[in-house]
Amino acid sequence: MRTKLLLLGIVWLGGITKIYADPIEDGKTIFMTRCAACHNVNKQLTGPALAGVDQRHSIDWIINFVHSSQKLVTGGDKAAVELFQRFNGVTMPDHPDLTEENIKSIVDYVKSATVIVDNKAPFAKPSKLQPYYRPLSIWQDYLVFLVYFFVVILLIVTLLFAVRLKSFSANSD
Ligand code: HEC
Repeated sequence: MRTKLLLLGIVWLGGITKIYADPIEDGKTIFMTRCAACHNVNKQLTGPALAGVDQRHSIDWIINFVHSSQKLVTGGDKAAVELFQRFNGVTMPDHPDLTEENIKSIVDYVKSATVIVDNKAPFAKPSKLQPYYRPLSIWQDYLVFLVYFFVVILLIVTLLFAVRLKSFSANSD
């Protein structure tokens, strides 16, 4: 019973660390369910290809645009108006429920899935996937470190407990 609970706890904690450690996966899930109908990272569909979007706009602009693109267009934001016209007045639906973190994780995913086409060297390898990793930082990801620390200590305690139990049963033989 105890060991089962312990195992369950470890699996659960492992799940939490995964969520905290993987914004790209989060972003991918949101992108696939909410954006992929009109957007592809590397191809223009109903909406523009999103590759390089973080270089065209500030992250704040992207967050505002995803929350309500029409607010920017009617507010006279130059980039938004220009895009709206270029895409023949197709309105991108509002996504007010996405948090800043959600939208940042979408941008992380877009970066990770961006195919770089090197126009200068057409006969070299035509394209390559650019890996994108955000290094773990103690301050931003302290929860991850804390949880890993906790899991390691739990494992050590379990191991010690198992060894004790074994020597106990060996003695009682
Ligand atoms: C119904 C289609 C549709 C959906 C769904 C959609 N978009 Fe868009 N998106 C557009 C269109 C069309 C534009 C071009 C601007 C305009 O017409 O207002 C655009 C533009 C953008 C831009 C500006 C891109 C650039 O190159 O400057 C970003 C960023 C963006 N969308 C993000 C998203 C994200 C993130 C989602 C999902 C949460 C999403 N969009 C869902 C249609 C859509």
